[in-house]
Amino acid sequence: MSSSITIIDNRTGDRVDVPIVDGTVDAREWSRLLPDVWFHDPSFGSTSGAESAVCELDGAAGYLRYRGHPIEQLAEQASFLEVAHLLLFGELPTRAQLDGFADEIAEASTIHENFHKRIFEGFRDDAHAMGVLVSSVAALSTFYPDSKDVEDATVRRSHIIRLLAKMPTLAASAYRRSVGNPYVQPDPDLDYTSNFLAMMFRPAEGGFEVDPILAQALDLLFVLHADHGQNCSTTTARTVGSSHADPYVSLSAACGALYGPRHGGANEAVLRMLEEIGSYDQVDDFVAAVKRGERRLMGFGHRVYKNYDPRAKILKETAHRVFEITGKNPLLDMALKLEEVALADNYFVSRKLYPNVDFYSGLIYQSMGFPVEMFTVLFAIGRTAGWLAHWDEMLAQGSRIARPRQLYIGEATRDVVPIDQR
Ligand code: SDX
Repeated sequence: MSSSITIIDNRTGDRVDVPIVDGTVDAREWSRLLPDVWFHDPSFGSTSGAESAVCELDGAAGYLRYRGHPIEQLAEQASFLEVAHLLLFGELPTRAQLDGFADEIAEASTIHENFHKRIFEGFRDDAHAMGVLVSSVAALSTFYPDSKDVEDATVRRSHIIRLLAKMPTLAASAYRRSVGNPYVQPDPDLDYTSNFLAMMFRPAEGGFEVDPILAQALDLLFVLHADHGQNCSTTTARTVGSSHADPYVSLSAACGALYGPRHGGANEAVLRMLEEIGSYDQVDDFVAAVKRGERRLMGFGHRVYKNYDPRAKILKETAHRVFEITGKNPLLDMALKLEEVALADNYFVSRKLYPNVDFYSGLIYQSMGFPVEMFTVLFAIGRTAGWLAHWDEMLAQGSRIARPRQLYIGEATRDVVPIDQR
């Protein structure tokens, strides 16, 4: 039996055989046969919108690979900067390449003093850190007008380095502004993740040592969040980038998409959900409300994974390692009970709802001392590597501008009625 489909237009009898290649069929064959008939697939539930070599995930098997490397091996053996190099340039770096990459990033990690004074100080005191990040990433666009030359690979690479380098500085500055602490500039003597922790928590008077075990755990969290195929925020980065907008506004748009509680904002929503449930013995009542459709079990479910998210497994193990240093997060037992009840209940099993990357990450962040408003910002730091890899890949492929069709369900044509007769 041939691996193909046959499309027949029953109005004319015209037909076309279309090969099934890697689980997809080329829609252009459809368009040739039926030029004025569109597939209607809102939220792209069964549509591939890009060709990509960056990341592969299989929802049924529950695997995730960055450029072919299993996430479990990268989590064990690679730092975030090694993984960023892999995603961006296709290979894990040699030690010399990694040292050069780290130096380039360290050199580009400062932000202009005026940025702090004129942009950060313009926000309300209670501004959410993600709102500050979305705005400040876009504001960087005004400092680098040459970044509009997106068809030049050398220009793209220079701004890829700048964005990877400045995202932690912007994130830490957003936090320090929110707690009224003076800003701390990057320390080139520290590695990427230790430098971020120092910019976050170093007191103005100094005398702060980064805990290497916590730095290693956060670096692992950045690795786990670095990429995930055509998720909502990466699709946003590729879509905005396809108009040849600069990388800063493209990634600002991606940050905006990530902010939503159905996506990267879920890690914050999980903590608020656990705090709202309040106690271990209230878990069953909350699950009952979810099953009545009154609530969502945040940190559960996934468009692709119909199996346990491999990142959630690794995070669950990491949580125990962090809690040995920080003390156990009191919300952990409630989270474990929620997972146990849900995985034994047909409502969740029949819908293939399992814990995703956001279910345990917030517990770890909170135990490390991060406020809830910073959780999605931390997700954005890791995902910056993936967003940039996809943005660069899309441009290197010479992709056309993203412009889906629509199913029009509005009014038929009708005349305007003068205002005095309406
Ligand atoms: C991330 O795409 C990615 O790769 C994302 C990500 C990445 O790394 O980039 O993995 C990161 O965003 C993870 C997801 C974080 N979001 C949450 O944890 C929020 C809670 N989960 C959902 O809202 C939901 O599961 C989504 C948004 C993740 C997926 O939504 P879908 O694929 O559109 O699924 P759906 O809303 O159509 O739900 C299918 C069914 C529905 O029930 P029925 O209408 O069939 O009766 O499952 C139910 C839903 O009601 N359902 C849930 C649920 N998620 C789905 N019911 C209760 N709790 C949930 N969390």
